[in-house]
Amino acid sequence: MNLDSQDLLNNLKLPEFDYVRQYVHNFPVNTLLGIGAAAAFALWYATRYKALKPAFDVTMQSIEIENGDRARRSAILSDNELIIYYYDDVKTVYDAFQRGLKISRDSPCLGARKPNKSYEWITYKQVADRAQCIGSALLQQGFKPAPTQFIGIFAQNRPEWVIAELGCYTYSMVTVPLYDTLGADAIVYVINKASLPLIFCDTSEKVKILLMSSEKGAIKTIKTIVIMDPFDLDLVEQGKNCGVTIFSLKEFEDLGKANLQDPVPPRSEDLSVICFTSGTTGDPKGAMMTHKNVISDCSAFVKVTEKVVNLNKSDVLISFLPLAHMFERVVECAMLTNGARIGFFQGDIKTLPDDIKTLKPTVMPVVPRLLNRMYDKIISQANTGLKKWLVNLAFRKKEAELKSGIMRRNSLWDKLVFHKVQGNLGGKVRLMITGAAPVSANVLTFLRAALGCQFYEGYGQTESSAGSTLTLPGDWSAGHVGAPLPCNLIKLIDVADMNYFAAEGEGEVCIKGPNVFSGYLKDPEKTTEALDKDGWLYTGDIGKWLPNGCLKIIDRKKHIFKLAQGEYIAPEKIENVYLRSEPVAQIFVHGDSLQASLVGIVIPDPEVLPIWAKKKKIIGTFEELCKNTELKNLILEDLQKLGIESGLKTFEQVKGIALHPEMLTVQNGLLTPTMKAKRPELRKFFQSQINELYTKM
Ligand SMILES: *[C@@H]1O[C@H](CO)[C@@H](O)[C@H](O)[C@H]1NC(C)=O
Ligand SMILES: *[C@@H]1O[C@H](CO)[C@@H](O)[C@H](O)[C@H]1NC(C)=O
Repeated sequence: MNLDSQDLLNNLKLPEFDYVRQYVHNFPVNTLLGIGAAAAFALWYATRYKALKPAFDVTMQSIEIENGDRARRSAILSDNELIIYYYDDVKTVYDAFQRGLKISRDSPCLGARKPNKSYEWITYKQVADRAQCIGSALLQQGFKPAPTQFIGIFAQNRPEWVIAELGCYTYSMVTVPLYDTLGADAIVYVINKASLPLIFCDTSEKVKILLMSSEKGAIKTIKTIVIMDPFDLDLVEQGKNCGVTIFSLKEFEDLGKANLQDPVPPRSEDLSVICFTSGTTGDPKGAMMTHKNVISDCSAFVKVTEKVVNLNKSDVLISFLPLAHMFERVVECAMLTNGARIGFFQGDIKTLPDDIKTLKPTVMPVVPRLLNRMYDKIISQANTGLKKWLVNLAFRKKEAELKSGIMRRNSLWDKLVFHKVQGNLGGKVRLMITGAAPVSANVLTFLRAALGCQFYEGYGQTESSAGSTLTLPGDWSAGHVGAPLPCNLIKLIDVADMNYFAAEGEGEVCIKGPNVFSGYLKDPEKTTEALDKDGWLYTGDIGKWLPNGCLKIIDRKKHIFKLAQGEYIAPEKIENVYLRSEPVAQIFVHGDSLQASLVGIVIPDPEVLPIWAKKKKIIGTFEELCKNTELKNLILEDLQKLGIESGLKTFEQVKGIALHPEMLTVQNGLLTPTMKAKRPELRKFFQSQINELYTKM
């Protein structure tokens, strides 16, 4: 092993870390040679492993079906028959648990911990028994063992959540999850819309909110509340006053035990859950999901990863993404089907790192926000030139492996550089899945290299049971959302006014398959907007087929997008508010789901700006004024003031602006003939200003 350190440096491609190269040039020669030797050894060590072949042909991951309006299916399938289930005996979420029970009877199933304590587990058998008691108590209270019976669950992720849910499924009842971020008004709306008669609640605080609304008459349907945490007896009195009976979960289970009933399992076509989601405007919509929806999606994931993941009894999931959303539920369903364990975080994101270290999970579903935070942390910890250089070298080497389909964490690079990062996740993570919002290709590739576990990115929505596409094992490239899952077809349809055409492989993403929902609860109008008569779900996302048959999401149909924290933004509404600012002639508000805040490009009014500026004691030509930072900040202040007056929420306000001296016109291609903003063009045109605004933030 004799590799000259200078050669090594010259062979490195360090575009974004060029300053590191500068630093290394000034580094003492001895140390440098030391690094060179270590790196050379690492090179040898890293390359002595045989490459693992990708599980599938990743050069063509989807296939166009014949006479199918250019719809594409997963290339994993041998014909056009979509997957509805994977195991013959698992066609409902109830069956999924029964399979886990059969193969893992006395093994741990659900675990939770108290602060600074180790995890305590209950077994599959205990979960099944408690669920039967809870379900029997529901029957004893007069509820029907039928998929027309809706039951609410208003709690953070915890074992009792899953037990209560299984209690409902054991008697064919339907769960309706409620969650804090819906907001108080929306929670009241959901309870009334679904006519929920009983709600399982975790804390007395939540119960108090529900009782207050019941007292005011805003909620009329609740007759019973079952509380998971300890509570004061006054609460029982308060409940009585508004006609609500309060049980502790323990009392409720005892009641069921004394009145135990045989299970009445659901059928595949029965409803399992109604998932309420909030949109930009209007009331939340309740997506009605059947058991078949959930199981087909879950089965498709198992199918895609069957040769490489094989979840089993020794797998552990860290459960912290809200169970009220489909993503987490589908993942948990896959865990339970295979007899694996689910450990819950303590309910506070601050103690999540400690929970993870204690639990040592093997499976971790994540969202881009968390990935961004992990990435930032790793980068900021590489705080010396040497560390930066090493991290980057290790990244490059592992990235090269990723490109040939190799995913591992036993190379010397892992031992030298990434073992601490991996250790922060407990050291055992072998499967990560990200979804819910797009993750930037940089961050995903870096973390895939650093964490060295199978790391999939998916795309979908509540209405398609969370997943519609998934990256394939062996294809660790980023910047796309993978191929259609084998449970659904995907087609793109023309969006002519945005210049997207299916014939060119671009258009609105439409999804059809057994995982697609059956409509919104008591809302035929919104249902017909989302689902056509042939069962295609219209997503409103604009997609593009890549040459390898993967889908890339490139735009949003209605000009609505999600910010990184999941808030929906309708930019035109915001622009209309800001246009009222005196010096502003035109404005373009930009944001995307990789960013947590909005920025704006302001085109000042050439007539008004000089006068407005003069009042602020700033003088100059229009061009000079457009470059004046002080003036820019004054305009930003004015916009934000207008925003507050018009009731924009904090996340709807621009956090930075750039001034641009030239009007947007039809002639320069930035406006449509009807004088509407061409958003994709504007985004491209102002890309450098936008990037600069975000880096300055
Ligand atoms: C748990 O440990 C942390 C750090 O050691 C400490 O700050 C915290 O107060 C402890 N919490 C409890 C409830 O004991
Ligand atoms: C579970 O799967 C992992 C990874 O494939 C494997 O190492 C382990 O031996 C399996 N455990 C059991 C109990 O089958």
